[in-house]
Amino acid sequence: MNQKDRIALVTGAAKRIGRVIAMSLAKRGCHIVLHYNSSVGSAFATAEELKSYGVKVLPIQADLRRPEQIEAMIEQAVTHFGGLDILVNSAASFVRADLQSMTLDVWNEILAVNLTAPMLCIKYAAPVLLRQESGVVINICDLYSELPTPPMLAHGVAKAGLLNLTRALALELAPRVRVNAVIPGVVLPPDDASAEYLARTADKNLIKQWGNPDQVAQAVLFLIENDFMVGEALHVDGGESLAWRLRHVIRDPA
Ligand SMILES: NC(=O)c1ccc[n+]([C@@H]2O[C@H](COP(=O)([O-])OP(=O)(O)OC[C@H]3O[C@@H](n4cnc5c(N)ncnc54)[C@H](OP(=O)(O)O)[C@@H]3O)[C@@H](O)[C@H]2O)c1
Repeated sequence: MNQKDRIALVTGAAKRIGRVIAMSLAKRGCHIVLHYNSSVGSAFATAEELKSYGVKVLPIQADLRRPEQIEAMIEQAVTHFGGLDILVNSAASFVRADLQSMTLDVWNEILAVNLTAPMLCIKYAAPVLLRQESGVVINICDLYSELPTPPMLAHGVAKAGLLNLTRALALELAPRVRVNAVIPGVVLPPDDASAEYLARTADKNLIKQWGNPDQVAQAVLFLIENDFMVGEALHVDGGESLAWRLRHVIRDPA
């Protein structure tokens, strides 16, 4: 799909990775529905930057834990632009908690934002996407989608669900709508990350480096542009998902 003059909704686009994805789409001529929740200042600053690429931008606030706000967001976007071509589910809530420390509130919040919200965004957007010649959905997953990690219990379960959702909806919405996922590794640390954390985390992948949000955005663009990519989950992780093999290759080279 060529992005020029398409309409793209990016969730969590006020800052960080979602912002970079929205910028990449705007550079290709896509008009942007910029979803945000609490980051009002960043959202409007990002909207101004996006407009500098000559595209139209509609910022919409919505708490993705609230299904009625998701439905209203999609309706407002479609009414404003008269359609929708691309949906990127990037917003997420990241909370560390294992079984011992898990509360029902934390569990419900993570599942709501990281799994139920992307499903509802797709559900409400699907009639519009299906009406058109073609549509694309990209879900931003996580290495935890495939690698169970006890301290990230709810996050991992939600992201695993999102990966399964990607494949299930690729089946249900084909051939008009292509649903794909990107699985980033470490690309953007929290603002308060220590130097020790950064080094230890980079050491887990094969190139011993952090990635960056532009590399995630490149994968999103590739999945949008390549019309033969369906139900795919593209790793952008410096080989982290493969790094465990090194131990076996060294021990047992045959
Ligand atoms: N950072 C990484 O290295 C990394 C690695 C692997 C995967 N990922 C995935 O890549 C995506 C983007 O990562 P990121 O680090 O940029 O994410 P992030 O900064 O943790 O969160 C992105 C946005 O999600 C929105 N959000 C959170 N709770 C919400 C709610 N209840 N309702 C609506 N929006 C809500 C927030 O919007 P507001 O600020 O407007 O409230 C936030 O700015 C996520 O899906 C993440 O899991 C990131």
